[in-house]
Amino acid sequence: MPSRAGLDRDPSAVARMFDGVAARYDVTNTVLSFGRDRAWRRATREALTIGPGDVVLDIAAGTGVSTVELAHTGATCLAADFSLGMLQAGRAERLGDAAQRGSTRGDVVPYLAADAMALPLPDASVDAVVMSFGLRNVVEPDAALAEFARVTKPGGTLAICEFSTPTWAPFRRVYTDYLMRALPRVARAVSSNPDAYVYLAESIRAWPDQPALARRITAAGWRAVSWRDLTGGIVALHTAVR
Ligand SMILES: C[S@@+](CC[C@H](N)C(=O)[O-])C[C@H]1O[C@@H](n2cnc3c(N)ncnc32)[C@H](O)[C@@H]1O
Repeated sequence: MPSRAGLDRDPSAVARMFDGVAARYDVTNTVLSFGRDRAWRRATREALTIGPGDVVLDIAAGTGVSTVELAHTGATCLAADFSLGMLQAGRAERLGDAAQRGSTRGDVVPYLAADAMALPLPDASVDAVVMSFGLRNVVEPDAALAEFARVTKPGGTLAICEFSTPTWAPFRRVYTDYLMRALPRVARAVSSNPDAYVYLAESIRAWPDQPALARRITAAGWRAVSWRDLTGGIVALHTAVR
């Protein structure tokens, strides 16, 4: 059975691949990003005007590490994903952390099994949709963006945090070298499924740059699309209004 998806992003192969990385997903991310993942999640939370009373869908939430950050706003944040392995690993980890602190709640958020292409939610039912490091893995990203528009209330927000294209050419060359050579080697030492990180490198290279993604978000029914580069454009945070 293949342990990594191909660039055709076959949904069952993608879900299986993430099931395979679930056990050490959070720690592997932090190692491979030199700890920058925490700043990227913080920037995503800060880009949203959400708070108590708001409902936020964090789609492709994986272990829920991105959802927990959003929940610090006081909004009700749902961690949704189609990899049950990722959802279960996250829930177990966070329940364990909470138990260690003598609390049963801790950072545990509601988990929901859901496919980004067909969300089990009514029209105009959430105040914001957030997707961090997920859209690149979806078989039809444009259809998913339109599905996010369907479930978001008028005036609600979209935030897409995704790997992108460094803007300064010399840095882009060094980064591409890290991506294609060093990253898979480091993953071999840290991850529970190193092959998945070869896919990670390849899928980042094949992903549209900042302006191209902004055009696709607009075409899917969103307005006021803009983006902010993080870490020199290694990551871009696109936001839009429904
Ligand atoms: C790299 S992880 C991101 C997890 C988390 N959002 C974060 O910031 O670390 C990508 C996640 O996207 C999920 N995913 C990919 N395609 C999906 C789809 N069509 N519907 C729901 N989840 C999907 C995978 O199962 C995986 O858990």
